[in-house]
Amino acid sequence: MRIVEISSAPMPPCSPAERSKGNRMGKYFAMSLLILIGGAALAGEAWRAPDSAKSVKNPVAREVGLRLGKALYEENCVICHGASGKGDGEAAAGLKPKPRNLGDRLVQAQTDGELFWKLTEGRGNMPEWRNLPEKERWSLVHYLRSFAGKR
Ligand code: HEC
Repeated sequence: MRIVEISSAPMPPCSPAERSKGNRMGKYFAMSLLILIGGAALAGEAWRAPDSAKSVKNPVAREVGLRLGKALYEENCVICHGASGKGDGEAAAGLKPKPRNLGDRLVQAQTDGELFWKLTEGRGNMPEWRNLPEKERWSLVHYLRSFAGKR
């Protein structure tokens, strides 16, 4: 909203040539403001999976997934997320934003599809895991459920 005000603010009277130059400058200024504000918003933005990811069902059976997921978690995720998902792994100290406690309601309330999407895509310090076969990623999702309610 503020951006619109800036670019449409009345210019002081001057020659038409100067005026159009001024308008152009105003546009560049507004554009760079937009980029700045956009960046700041992203940095503090909640991480949400797209709606299309929500309803995707976990194709891996729970028992199989739990077993496979545990091994994969220990191999790939403990370093940051910690053995019980609290975000207290060895490498967690420097992370910004810190990973949430994976047992937290905010994580567990997400569908399997959303968690699968997040661990596939990654964001910032959270690596993307699309190099792991889908079956392994879905298995990890089953394993993340075992943290539910752990504080
Ligand atoms: C190098 C550190 C690191 C490793 C390794 C890592 N993560 Fe993460 N993870 C993060 C960080 C940091 C975030 C928070 C990202 C954010 O909110 O922008 C995160 C967030 C997540 C989330 C989203 C939680 C939420 O808030 O909705 C899931 C799910 C997740 N990680 C799963 C995994 C799994 C599964 C693995 C292993 C295959 C893994 N992570 C390995 C650092 C890591």
